[in-house]
Amino acid sequence: MEKKWWKEAVVYQIYPRSFKDADGDGIGDLRGIISKLDYLKELGIDVVWLSPVYQSPNDDNGYDISDYRNIMDEFGTMEDWEEMVSEMHKRGIKLVMDLVVNHTSDEHPWFIESRKSKDNAYRDYYIWRPGKEGKEPNNWESFFSGSAWEYDEATGEYYLHLFSKKQPDLNWENPNVRKEIYEMMRFWLDKGVDGFRMDVINMISKVPELPDGEAYDGKKYASGSRYFMNGPRVHEFLQEMNREVLSHYDIMTVGETPGVTPKEGILYTDPARCELNMVFQFEHVDLDSGPGGKWDIRPWKLADLKKTMTKWQKELEGKGWNSLYLNNHDQPRAVSRFGDDKQYRVESAKMLATFLHMMQGTPYIYQGEELGMTNVRFSSIEDYRDIETLNMYKEYVEKYGENPQAVLEKIYYKGRDNARTPMQWDDSKHAGFTDGTPWIQVNPNYKEINAKAALQDPDSVFHYYKKLIQLRKQHPVIVYGTYHLILEDHPLIYAYTRTLENEKLVVITNFSNETPVFRLPEDIVYTAKELLIHNYPVVESEELHEIRLRPWEARVYKIQ
Ligand code: GLC
Repeated sequence: MEKKWWKEAVVYQIYPRSFKDADGDGIGDLRGIISKLDYLKELGIDVVWLSPVYQSPNDDNGYDISDYRNIMDEFGTMEDWEEMVSEMHKRGIKLVMDLVVNHTSDEHPWFIESRKSKDNAYRDYYIWRPGKEGKEPNNWESFFSGSAWEYDEATGEYYLHLFSKKQPDLNWENPNVRKEIYEMMRFWLDKGVDGFRMDVINMISKVPELPDGEAYDGKKYASGSRYFMNGPRVHEFLQEMNREVLSHYDIMTVGETPGVTPKEGILYTDPARCELNMVFQFEHVDLDSGPGGKWDIRPWKLADLKKTMTKWQKELEGKGWNSLYLNNHDQPRAVSRFGDDKQYRVESAKMLATFLHMMQGTPYIYQGEELGMTNVRFSSIEDYRDIETLNMYKEYVEKYGENPQAVLEKIYYKGRDNARTPMQWDDSKHAGFTDGTPWIQVNPNYKEINAKAALQDPDSVFHYYKKLIQLRKQHPVIVYGTYHLILEDHPLIYAYTRTLENEKLVVITNFSNETPVFRLPEDIVYTAKELLIHNYPVVESEELHEIRLRPWEARVYKIQ
């Protein structure tokens, strides 16, 4: 397998609004990030993925960009940004910027022009259609509730917005749009960025006829995803982008690709095809969604997690490259979702980290994950900020007449604000995030869960992550080994091996607060073993053949 720096790297995602506020306005900023770079250096990560910091009216917290070449006022200035990159590079940390080019803000100059008249030079930068019999051009539902179309008085037509109505979709069929985007990408690469995380990049090519989707459960609007995810020209566009821009720099690229299958995943990441280095697939974080989508919540099952992760591990092996994540700014906190965020919070946070970081692929840590930060339960909808959550709440309560408390329960489980409460730095007011009033409240558990306490405690989740990252640098089998699932049918234990030449890892993780017995399959023989990492006090002498595991226990052995 070809060696690449981005295969060996560990990425840390910063959601700048919630990371660290340096100027006391209650909103995280670039100077705040600069002040915490030594913390990241201590953790040992190699790359920062920074969620959008461009000019934005913040309808979707920066994912609605009104100026791609300037920094959001609340976050600082271009000088601050330059200082931030140079301070990162000084510490050997690379910077990956978020690239949001499926849509812009409706306040972007292109859209302001586009909506003026049907013959405006920028009209065709977006997707405009006349209505159908006085209604929207098709029945597609926006990811943020309601129709994906917005009627515009000035020209009497509708524009497409897969996300909020302040996020009109760009028309990638238009070569001028693509040319401008490539220029903008070169602008940032020439300023020294080391790669891009590409927002919903598999949605840039729509089936031109924009056919109706199939409505679920008698609903008015339907998912149109089969007509815009992995659409007809997406690979052509990415190959063009690669030719024009990406191939000229030594960078890393990761595409956010909801609804992607391993087969498609290979098309995006096979190096011979010259598109992207890796994609974020969604199958494992969709295991607790029913046919009604994200808010149709049902329990996930370990058997399904095994099937899904194993499918991705095996099918991409030697053909593409995986990214590994359980958290990001759109997902609830992993320890609350897949672990036990009460009695075994520390143990299960470490177990999940082990489970993920020992797989094949590039691991991503989302801010606060390294502290075992948890979901939050605000008592009122007034305390929530995320547009997706607020729109959903309104629709379910006002339109469908659902019980508000039941809708809040959905939000407690899946809402994106779970990941967006401020980073918990210490036990002082507002968790040391800000001297002002935070834009969203801090999780009340910050007195116990915070970076200061974690740094002082050698058994903390933080120090465990640090060790996992170091192991990756010491044992090539963690990066390049092949994956093999063992104990396939065990209802509580997820175990697998990684093999590179004569080195083998045995990864054992208990996904429960029970105490099941792990039995090593008979075909795995060894003469020597070394316990590389463990989330309970050491038991070096124990034989590997039969181990009674403790709640949420995780161990990794290297055997020969
Ligand atoms: C991606 C982002 C999410 C955003 C959406 C629209 O899914 O991760 O935060 O709301 O795209 O840009």
